[in-house]
Amino acid sequence: MVFVTRLEHFNAAHKLYNPNWTREKNEEVFGACANENWHGHNYQLYVTVKGEPDPETGFVYDVKKLSSIIKEKIVNQLDHKNLNMDVPFLQGKLCSTENLVIGIWQQLVPHLPKEVQLHSIKLYETPRIYVEYFG
Ligand code: NI
Repeated sequence: MVFVTRLEHFNAAHKLYNPNWTREKNEEVFGACANENWHGHNYQLYVTVKGEPDPETGFVYDVKKLSSIIKEKIVNQLDHKNLNMDVPFLQGKLCSTENLVIGIWQQLVPHLPKEVQLHSIKLYETPRIYVEYFG
């Protein structure tokens, strides 16, 4: 089994805020991320697929095609958006990086061809914080 990773990038705004809590509790739990008027991140998205190399191409899957699928189905929905307000698959959810990787996985899986399996979604929110999801 060979694992192939494609890196994509998007910028987006969000805030972490639980509407069932008081403002004080949100600030206590989420700190600066609860800022009422939003803040942004430069997200780095690593999508890893797995499979066996095709005998005719030597590829597990064409990374250019993988990139097009990720751009069309994920990046175009998230880039320069407000994650809390603009993204249908995050409606009603806390826009944490954890919930984002689960949503990205669910959006992506139906659009991948049968010959490859999604292995992981890794998302860097900052250069020092990332979240991984294996389905
Ligand atoms: Ni944040």
